[in-house]
Amino acid sequence: MKTIVVYYSHGGKTKAVAQGVALEFQCGTEEIRLKKVQGKKPGAVDMMQKRKKGQLPAIYHESLNLNKQQTIILGGPIWGGTVAAPIYSLINHIDWKNKTVAVFVTAALFGTSKALAKLKKELESRGATVNDQKAFFSLLRNPKTLKTAGAHWAKDLKKQATDKH
Ligand SMILES: Cc1cc2nc3c(=O)[nH]c(=O)nc-3n(C[C@H](O)[C@H](O)[C@H](O)COP(=O)(O)O)c2cc1C
Repeated sequence: MKTIVVYYSHGGKTKAVAQGVALEFQCGTEEIRLKKVQGKKPGAVDMMQKRKKGQLPAIYHESLNLNKQQTIILGGPIWGGTVAAPIYSLINHIDWKNKTVAVFVTAALFGTSKALAKLKKELESRGATVNDQKAFFSLLRNPKTLKTAGAHWAKDLKKQATDKH
């Protein structure tokens, strides 16, 4: 089964979780990278505000090549009670039919359940099966702790997959 961890991270917390997950799965990671606008990367607050008007940031989706991956572990931070806009940019560029997706978010404190439910609905409306969802709280947690938490979750995911067979 081809698995990959795809994530967006603004400040490194989601990246740390993604690295822990990939370590446990012994699989690769792909970081969603933003395209510059007028020579500058868009800021998080700016992206959050534009998202409310229905505008999503441009990303380098061409190099991601995820269409052959059967299983995608997708993660991003929570911004204003929803999953960060670049994750939704990615969603528009992939054919999700027949893909199995596990989603995770990192958040300081709040907004994770609603955000995860919305993300699941969006992916399933595009033909994916979302088999697990997880929130990691990142406030006062260092990258090492978050990496370990990611690896723990990945162990659970692996166990779920073997229990099914
Ligand atoms: C613009 C912005 C909005 C945020 N909104 C929320 C929020 O609604 N709830 C929350 O718990 N944390 C919120 N946070 C905190 C991030 O979700 C949290 O620090 C996350 O782990 C950051 O991940 P990253 O380091 O991978 O970017 C926000 C952060 C930013 C920059």
